[in-house]
Amino acid sequence: MSHALIIKNKIKNFNKSIKVSGDKSLSIRWVLFSSLANGVSIAKNLLNSEDVRAAIDAIKKLGIKVNVKKNICKIYGKGINGYKYKKNLIINAQNSGTLGRLILGLIINTKFPIKLIGDKSLSKRDFNRISTPLSKFGAKFKLHKNKFLPLTITGSKNLRSINYIENKGSAQCKSAVIFAGMRVKGLTKIKAKKSRNHTELLCKNLDLPIKIQNKKKFDLIKIQEVKKIKKLNYEIPGDISSSAFFIVLTILNQNSKLIIKNVNINSSRTGVITILKKMGANISFKNIKIYKGEKNADIHIKYINSLKAINCPSSLNSNAIDEFLVIFLVAARARGVSYFKDLDELNKKESPRLIWGEKILNRMGIRTISTKNSIKIFGNPNLNINKKIIIKNYLKDHRVFMTSVIAALSFGGRWEIHDKNSIKTSFPEFLKIINYLKS
Ligand code: S3P
Repeated sequence: MSHALIIKNKIKNFNKSIKVSGDKSLSIRWVLFSSLANGVSIAKNLLNSEDVRAAIDAIKKLGIKVNVKKNICKIYGKGINGYKYKKNLIINAQNSGTLGRLILGLIINTKFPIKLIGDKSLSKRDFNRISTPLSKFGAKFKLHKNKFLPLTITGSKNLRSINYIENKGSAQCKSAVIFAGMRVKGLTKIKAKKSRNHTELLCKNLDLPIKIQNKKKFDLIKIQEVKKIKKLNYEIPGDISSSAFFIVLTILNQNSKLIIKNVNINSSRTGVITILKKMGANISFKNIKIYKGEKNADIHIKYINSLKAINCPSSLNSNAIDEFLVIFLVAARARGVSYFKDLDELNKKESPRLIWGEKILNRMGIRTISTKNSIKIFGNPNLNINKKIIIKNYLKDHRVFMTSVIAALSFGGRWEIHDKNSIKTSFPEFLKIINYLKS
């Protein structure tokens, strides 16, 4: 029996201040950059989750020493050519698409074949989107059914720079190509649809030879071979994707107020805030600071009793891609019919999330009309659930679990939500914070 969480009661109103765990995208990127730096890099508040531990294990396999004590992580980089490529190396990215995809860019010069494997969920996800551009650099790939893990990558002595067009709005594809570009002679040019830009900002912060031109719908990125990376001490700010669950819990619970301290509010991540504000939510940023080129702030949220439906512009999709499940819960309470479109990428996550979003809504008694990449949600401002709802067999997607918890606490009913351990990949502290808000 998968560990199930039973929730029978709505949460009472709260007025509290919390901190969420370190940002996952920044944590994994910090591990990867530091692994190629010269000297010891130190991080505070690195996310302590399975995805980040998988990143640490991956660089250890490549011969890099790591030391984690409490909240402090030290990585002993040996420079840009410091990886030790051995025969029969296997890297296990577990559940992490970000690790699995980004690391391929960094090991593009491997002498020996390296095998990349992952868990059941990651093994269903597309790796062709990474092997295609990385093959153009000159690396050789073998993929299961030409698309999936396990895969093997073998580098080449004759790697060459490429021109690449990224048109899915995938930061993972863009970042893998930036990493590979750092490894090869010549100028790699990328035209990328807008997506989270942490990799570019870290490159800039480290004074790496990168040039970025921001256009309205895409970015032009030029990266040259990197000879040296400085060590990078970093205090990781809170994760806005983890914050989103508590933001929505506050929005949906009468007379509640919440402050979330020191969260990364990079504008390529704040689509969720823009969308919820358009729906009438009361959210503001206070105490805004720039830290290593990234914007961080405290997020203040207050309950509001009238939420309106949204016709969500698809230009916000990439900036809110990890938050749509909880955004759908707000649409369930809003007055009117909300419409979300061009969400092809949403079904390509840890589980098919557009399908799971709709399943959760339908089990809650909310009417929906969907296509393979869009959904109309018929909101019900008076929704109050009285029945039993079971959520299971969702490929242990942490965001399906956490969204179901927020729905249970906000709308009532008797919920049995399976695979409680799914939160360990990304946000192990989630239930602890829920209990604090309940107390
Ligand atoms: C991430 C990029 C996004 C996001 C994922 C983290 C990253 O994926 O969904 O959770 O850290 O680069 P895509 O690049 O596939 O959109």
